Amino acid sequence: MKMTGALSCSALMLCAFAAPAFAGDAAAGAAKSAVCGACHGASGNSSNPEWPNLAGQHEGYIAAQLALFKRGARDNALMMPNASALTDQDMMDLGAHFAGQAPAGLEADPSNYKAGERLYRGGDADRGVPACIACHGPQGKGNGPAKYPALRAQHAVYTYNQLKAFAEGRRRTPDNDIMQVIASKLTDEEMRAVSSYTQGLR
Ligand code: HEC
Ligand code: HEC
Repeated sequence: MKMTGALSCSALMLCAFAAPAFAGDAAAGAAKSAVCGACHGASGNSSNPEWPNLAGQHEGYIAAQLALFKRGARDNALMMPNASALTDQDMMDLGAHFAGQAPAGLEADPSNYKAGERLYRGGDADRGVPACIACHGPQGKGNGPAKYPALRAQHAVYTYNQLKAFAEGRRRTPDNDIMQVIASKLTDEEMRAVSSYTQGLR
């Protein structure tokens, strides 16, 4: 069968064969990741809860977020300079590297995670809040091909900050307002509870 380019791909496997340049190389990513480790941790698990863990996050999601920082669509003063010089291949390599690392176990805050668990698993139909589990999965592992990020073992402080940023329109993804719509329906208390729950999820 003649492959003429990405548009002729009918299945992911074929795309992978047709376009090897777009697949990440974890070893190359490891070599490029030293600067990232200063904030995200050498193991992809950061020590500052405002800086996200990248260990075990999906390759495609990591690459997509790096591209957003690079073009200024996702705004963060610490992160943007670190993305500005990356090529598409660097982004995929870094994604492959961090995706292969193991997330460290974090614990949920026992005082509020139960409410977070209810919201995560059941949503709130009365207010049109969908269950997070539908996209982020029963163990918070997300969905790689759909670019739904993993939320498990992520710092609650970071997760809460992102929900706030979505709700207030400070984090915006071109052509994708899924999380802005959902987060804008959540109360502050719900954001804290669900973030606590996902921190302990694995
Ligand atoms: C000076 C600290 C710092 C350095 C160095 C840094 N980052 Fe970040 N990174 C951050 C912060 C802070 C955020 C969270 C930004 C926000 O709140 O939107 C972030 C967010 C990210 C995200 C988004 C994660 C998510 O779950 O959405 C990715 C991916 C990322 N960084 C990758 C990298 C890579 C790859 C490197 C190295 C090339 C790097 N970072 C270097 C501080 C840093
Ligand atoms: C219909 C699918 C869908 C549902 C339901 C959903 N999400 Fe998301 N979520 C996404 C997508 C897609 C992204 C990536 C958004 C982007 O790139 O801007 C995301 C991103 C996030 C992030 C940012 C993660 C990071 O690493 O920066 C958080 C936090 C989050 N979602 C929490 C939730 C919570 C809490 C709920 C339930 C109240 C929920 N999501 C329901 C699809 C969904």
